[in-house]
Amino acid sequence: MIESSSENLKQMASAQSADFIQFENTLRPKNLDQYIGQKNIKNNLKIAIEAAKRRKDPLDHILLHGSPGLGKTTLAHIIAAEAGVNIKITSGPALEKQGDVASIISNLEEYDVLFIDEIHRLKPVVEEVLYTAMEDFALDLIIGKGPSARAMRISLPKFTLIGATTKLSMLSSPLRGRFGNIFKLEFYEENDIREILMRSAKILGCGLDENLASLLAKSCRQTPRIANRLLKRLRDYADVKHESVINKNILRECLYTIGIDELGLDSMDREILRMIIEKFRGGPVGLNTIAAAISEEESTIEDIYEPFLIQLGFLERTARGRLATERAYEHLGLEFPI
Ligand code: ADE
Repeated sequence: MIESSSENLKQMASAQSADFIQFENTLRPKNLDQYIGQKNIKNNLKIAIEAAKRRKDPLDHILLHGSPGLGKTTLAHIIAAEAGVNIKITSGPALEKQGDVASIISNLEEYDVLFIDEIHRLKPVVEEVLYTAMEDFALDLIIGKGPSARAMRISLPKFTLIGATTKLSMLSSPLRGRFGNIFKLEFYEENDIREILMRSAKILGCGLDENLASLLAKSCRQTPRIANRLLKRLRDYADVKHESVINKNILRECLYTIGIDELGLDSMDREILRMIIEKFRGGPVGLNTIAAAISEEESTIEDIYEPFLIQLGFLERTARGRLATERAYEHLGLEFPI
């Protein structure tokens, strides 16, 4: 197996290059019926949207949380489209001061959606003004300084805040408590990933049959963003090899070349597991030690690599640190110590 660079998965999970954004936009489902998977969330959203429309109320604020690439931004676009309103997009770190919140919300039209990505990264002063904005559709600002300072209340259009985060635990409870709906996006079933691959292949005009889509689905980490990226890599590979239809050989060669195994693990996943097993006798070992040993940031390991390794049952988070499981030993072809 040719080992891919560790940037590989990081890029796939969080890449925001122009090419990537254009690619994602073409494939992004535009309404709830086109959106595959997350059935429970879709059902709840359909009811919430229909009820708000009937009452002519704004939709209650919505918090979406889950691993990167599971479709939080896509869902936010769809919610706005289904509600028939505009969406403005920003992120926690981009809102630097209270005035930024004032200006972005005052420019919304009644019932519009404000989408704040990485909402766990809001500054406390910004978060504070969001409370009254969410609750009373008003902003309490202090104008001026010293003895001449005075409080002023600005009223805002009724709007819906959609917040997205990969780290629910980092959200303060006052902020969390102001969302009427909190939805956790789960990793996707293999069948759903296969369906997403078939849909995307059709849009991209590349030949992919059901059987191959099923095979490829196993390597997509149960994540639509990764499925679409792998499909694109596969299309490039087939184009270069002058194959008009993607076949089993092309699939196998392509995954081998980019270093992804049959369960979707890349070189960094395997390195993390191998390191815990070989250097720390399977653990428990602290996140900071793992990060130092493989020269990667703790947050990258925690947010991008670990959730899927835990989902596969290869890794456990315990109070004393990370543990590699018997299944991890098996997958790497190593003997589990008894
Ligand atoms: N593309 C990316 N995510 C998708 C989803 N959940 N359904 C359909 N197409 C998608």
